[in-house]
Amino acid sequence: MNRRIALIPAAGVGERFGAGKPKQYVEINGKTVLAHTLDIFLQHAQIDRVAVVLSPDDVFFQTACRIRHDRLTVLRCGGISRAESVRNGIDALLQQGLASGSDRILVHDAARCCLPPEALTRLIEAVGDDENGGILAIPVADTLKRADADKRTAETVSRERLWQAQTPQMFQTALLQRALSGGLDGITDEASAVERLGFKPRLVQGDVRNLKLTLPQDEHIVRLLLSDGPSR
Ligand code: CTP
Ligand code: MG
Repeated sequence: MNRRIALIPAAGVGERFGAGKPKQYVEINGKTVLAHTLDIFLQHAQIDRVAVVLSPDDVFFQTACRIRHDRLTVLRCGGISRAESVRNGIDALLQQGLASGSDRILVHDAARCCLPPEALTRLIEAVGDDENGGILAIPVADTLKRADADKRTAETVSRERLWQAQTPQMFQTALLQRALSGGLDGITDEASAVERLGFKPRLVQGDVRNLKLTLPQDEHIVRLLLSDGPSR
C-alpha cells in the first residue's frame, strides 16, 4: 500500500514579511502559522505522515509548536533554498525508512496556512496514481501586463491557459527525488523540477483562500480566513 506523506518546508527566514522572526512562527488567532498548517494535514484522513523541514539552527519550533503527534516527524535539515530544503527532507525520509520510493509525497509551503481541507482532498483524488503527479493551481483571473523598463505597459499578455501554481504539489517520492537531484537553479516549485524530466503534472483547481503569507499586508487576510473556522 502506498502511503501519502505531507512534507512541509519551514526553513525560510521570511525576509519579505519582516516580522523579526520567520513568518511561520508568527501567531495568528491563537496559534502559530506553522501549527495551523501542520494541523490541516494531521487532521486529514488521507494523509499518513506529516514531516516538517526546519532550519538546522531553528530556535522557535519547540516552544512555538507544542504539537505531539505520532504521525509528525521533525527534520532539521533545511537548506539555503526552498528546493534544497525539500530535497534534503525527502532524502532524510527515505534514509530513515519513513518513506519508500513508491509513496506519494505532497509538498506544501508552511506559509500557506489557510489551505481548505476539501482542496487537499480534491488534489489527492484527481492525481490518484498518475505518474505525472499534480498540483493545486488557479486559472489567472486578472488582465496581465508586461512592463517596460520604466514601469509602463509594454503589452497586454493573453491569460489563455495561464495558471498560478499553489501547493500542495503531489508526486511519487522516487520521481521527485530524481527530479531534485539535478541542479536546483530556477527550480521554484516541485512541478518545475519534474517538468524538466519530461513529465506533465496535472493542474487541479486550487482555492483563492490558499494564499501564501508573503508580505505584511497578507496577515490581515489570513487572520480573517483563519477566524472563519467552520467553513474551512
Ligand atoms: N523555505 C524553506 N527553506 C528555505 C526557504 C524557504 O523551507 N531555504 C520554505 C518557507 O519556510 C516557506 C516556503 O518554503 O514555508 C515558501 O517560501 P517563501 O514564502 O519564499 O518563504 P521565505 O523564504 O521564508 O520568505 P522570503 O522569501 O520572503 O524570505
Ligand atoms: Mg523565499
